[in-house]
Amino acid sequence: MNQIKCIGILTSGGDAPGMNAAIRAVTRSAIYNGFEVKGIMRGYRGLVYNEIEPFKSQSVSNIIQLGGTILKTARCKEFTTAEGRKTAYDNMVAAGIDALVVIGGDGSLTGANIFAQEYNVPIVGLPGTIDNDLGGTDSTIGYDTALNTILDAVDKLRDTASSHERLFFVEVMGNTAGYLALNSTIATGAEAAILPDTDTEVDQLGELINNGFRKSKNSAIVIVAEDPHSVKGRAVDLAERVKAEFPQYDARVTILGHVQRGGSPSAVDRILASRMGYAAVQALMDGQRNVMIGITNGQIVYVPFVKAVKHDKTIDRNDIELVKILSI
Ligand code: F6P
Repeated sequence: MNQIKCIGILTSGGDAPGMNAAIRAVTRSAIYNGFEVKGIMRGYRGLVYNEIEPFKSQSVSNIIQLGGTILKTARCKEFTTAEGRKTAYDNMVAAGIDALVVIGGDGSLTGANIFAQEYNVPIVGLPGTIDNDLGGTDSTIGYDTALNTILDAVDKLRDTASSHERLFFVEVMGNTAGYLALNSTIATGAEAAILPDTDTEVDQLGELINNGFRKSKNSAIVIVAEDPHSVKGRAVDLAERVKAEFPQYDARVTILGHVQRGGSPSAVDRILASRMGYAAVQALMDGQRNVMIGITNGQIVYVPFVKAVKHDKTIDRNDIELVKILSI
């Protein structure tokens, strides 16, 4: 492909607060720099089924404060097949789109990487997921808002936990990553965090809970990172085991679920999305290809897709220690 004239934008995978702010920033930065812009509906599905709309500056008016995504989103099975991607490419060319900005999580960026390799399409990704599980960026768009949503819910649960002198297991999202779980534990003062890949011995947990009750508090809250492969749900499973062992505690389970994906984006996410959206257009103009925009230590960085989806961003072990010390 030679010179870029028209940029297509899509949002894919789980929605995240701040996606609209990112769509707005990409659209307006592109128009400012003389590009045509097209909005692709429902993620890669819109490419496969030709749901593509011309975007003007007004198409993104009054959306910075909105949760969800005006472009809609989907997890598209067809795009995982070579045949589906061929149709997507043909529709993209027919619509006059010669570069893409893909806003989404690891599945979406993995798809972008395959598509870029197969058809030599210039693609720049933006990290849009509440999970914060993409490498090469300190934060992903939506993570801060989701964290604040958890804080709000857990603070409310603390009121009832404390009034009834109960033990609560609160399950949070994050897919296979523990960022939401760990940082919401620190920020809510919860008694314990059950993170992904932690083998939780019930008696160890009992000790932690006892600590919670022994303190001036008369309640305990345990934040449990979801296990996306568990049928019953990790918090339910854990609560059952603890209840069997420690029947003296009046235990309850709250699964926060998809409420964590909704709501008006925080200031942090709006600013992050705006900076990243602007940077995506700059990256395409600078000839960058197959990279995700990241921000580390306040600086824009270009992260190759393969590195972004590698799942090698690790949790700070000091923070796990911090939770233990602050809940004694
Ligand atoms: O990746 C975002 C996320 O909300 C994860 O935290 C969660 O595991 C998953 O998506 C849920 O996906 P779905 O909306 O398809 O149920």
